[in-house]
Amino acid sequence: MSQSQIQIFDTTLRDGEQVPGCKLNTDQKLIIAQQLEKLGVDVIEAGFPISSPGDFKSVKAISEIVKNATVCGLTRAVKKDIEMAAEALKKAKKPRIHTGIGTSPSHIKYKFNSNSEQIIDRAFEAVKYAKSFVEDVEFYAEDAGRTENEYLAKVCEAAIKAGATVLNIPDTTGYCLPNEYGAKIKYLMENVTGIEKAILSCHCHNDLGLATANSIEGVINGARQIECTINGIGERAGNTALEEVVMILKQHPYLNLTTNIQPKEIYKTSQLVSHHMGVYTQPNKAIVGSNAFAHSSGIHQDGVIKNRETYEIIDPKEIGVTESAIVLTARSGRAALAYRAKKVGYELTKLQLDDVYATFLNFADKKKEVKDDDIHQIIETSNVYQQIISA
Ligand code: KIV
Ligand code: ZN
Repeated sequence: MSQSQIQIFDTTLRDGEQVPGCKLNTDQKLIIAQQLEKLGVDVIEAGFPISSPGDFKSVKAISEIVKNATVCGLTRAVKKDIEMAAEALKKAKKPRIHTGIGTSPSHIKYKFNSNSEQIIDRAFEAVKYAKSFVEDVEFYAEDAGRTENEYLAKVCEAAIKAGATVLNIPDTTGYCLPNEYGAKIKYLMENVTGIEKAILSCHCHNDLGLATANSIEGVINGARQIECTINGIGERAGNTALEEVVMILKQHPYLNLTTNIQPKEIYKTSQLVSHHMGVYTQPNKAIVGSNAFAHSSGIHQDGVIKNRETYEIIDPKEIGVTESAIVLTARSGRAALAYRAKKVGYELTKLQLDDVYATFLNFADKKKEVKDDDIHQIIETSNVYQQIISA
């Protein structure tokens, strides 16, 4: 079975930046865009050019410096939006306009005070207009997650007829279950006339914690692009996390789905985005959290010290983290203490370790975590200190 390439569309600088208080200036966006290129993303959604002069400036500046990735600008299905995006993307080597409209009953009725036929016309006209500026036009059917499949298929057909190269199927409210989202993609693959002229894209939000699972179901069922953000940041509960989908595909090679991402750049990119956006990453965040490769219970530590793979499915070096952390707490065992003591310069015999371990436990009961400095203090106050240093 031949491998299929999944395009990684990074929207950290657009959907990700919609997190309250995370506004980035143009310089910060340029720094992140350059790192996204090193990471190997296929598409950088640089912003929503009509939304503010600052965003227009950022999309323009990113278009000028990005060498390999496609640079994309978001628009509504509105002529002025599309003109502004085309202008901002003028210098991009590979420009893409991302235009679209809400398709669910509530969007049609309350947001647009419209009807389903008029929405199809607007979708067609928006894509056609965007095509007059650029070849690569992505269409999004906002709230596709809550749009009836039969109607969604008709909207997609209209977008393809107008020339769309990518059809984005957003689960805007994070509502779908993985099997429902997968079935939606399968339905579109099987029922949209002309689907071979475009690729389907997954754009999943995390309101129920299912964004990553839904995106994976989407590509298993035929989608060929995933829209995601670094650290899963984004409005409300966020978007699909890039690092999660990339490492899932890598860890499950039998799926025969690959990406162009350089995993070694993942951790660095995560730290950079967290720093510039001022958003702290939760310690237990999959792949990039500070505890993702940390082991603190005695049983786990003993296993990891003997062979890392007993409790780790990913080698931290693969994502650019130097090594697994053996964290010393009152739950740690002798193996962990000996390992960490050796790292700070003490080679303990079995008898010495028994003695130092008793001192360690008294110390650890009073502290949440025992650090390198503490290890020196513990050994210095143990009964066997003279023996250890004169060995
Ligand atoms: O979540 C969503 O529907 C979006 C679209 C604007 C693509 O972000
Ligand atoms: Zn979104």
